[in-house]
Amino acid sequence: MDTRPIGVFDSGVGGLTVVKQIMKVMPHENIVYFGDTARLPYGSKSREAVTRFSRQNVRFLQTKDVKAIIIACNTASSNSLDVLKAEFDVPLFGVVVPGVEEAVRSTKNKKVGVIGTSATVRSGAYERLIQEKDPKIHVFSKACPLFVPLAEEGWTDNGVAKQAARNYLDELLTTGIDSLVLGCTHYPLLKRCIGTTVGESIKLVDPAKATAKRVMDYLGKRGLLNEGTDEGRRQFYLSDSTDTFQFLCQKALKHEYPAEIIDIERY
Ligand code: DGL
Repeated sequence: MDTRPIGVFDSGVGGLTVVKQIMKVMPHENIVYFGDTARLPYGSKSREAVTRFSRQNVRFLQTKDVKAIIIACNTASSNSLDVLKAEFDVPLFGVVVPGVEEAVRSTKNKKVGVIGTSATVRSGAYERLIQEKDPKIHVFSKACPLFVPLAEEGWTDNGVAKQAARNYLDELLTTGIDSLVLGCTHYPLLKRCIGTTVGESIKLVDPAKATAKRVMDYLGKRGLLNEGTDEGRRQFYLSDSTDTFQFLCQKALKHEYPAEIIDIERY
């Protein structure tokens, strides 16, 4: 039994979609969330910058005595997880491997689409790992950078979001994919809009659920789960204030939480 919190970070508020799944499968766990709203977006930055930011985020979460850290951000998971794993002792989990496993399970026709930020697509991580699991699967990737500011702005299903979805996804639809990985934590916030655009025959794969399960298995096998019966405590930290945090908290978690602003450059 270990009551220390689970740390989660993302480049912004998109990681709340991962927190939602952690709360679902591990309701008694305490959670400390950090959203790097001051330096968002990560998706247009270099691997070096994303790794430097992620390192500071891990250091900050370590000051909260976390027992494990989930890198909710696909951009950081696909570009920086291996480097960080070699540097830190704390157990670190990314979202890409669970997303890959889910996609491989999901596809029947062996055609998988992956959408993410430019840096995630450029890293080739999803493609490489999916093909390592099953070389017969064809992966079609597409960067959809505008989805991130749309989600941060709360424009998740209006005319602009629908137009962006059509522009990004129409071409992907010509490939015949039967599964589409939402390879960015912000995208589940636009799930309805993306789902309507691609149609019901394409299964949307959100790596968040599989990530939460993976962490639960890891902690469970080591006797590190919080076995208390109370609802876990949730703390939120951001590197800059954002007008839409409460709105997105309400949308993702059906609850509003206060967020404390911290200076991430100190870590
Ligand atoms: N939420 C981040 C991800 O999952 C991307 C947003 C950004 O560009 O910072 O990739």
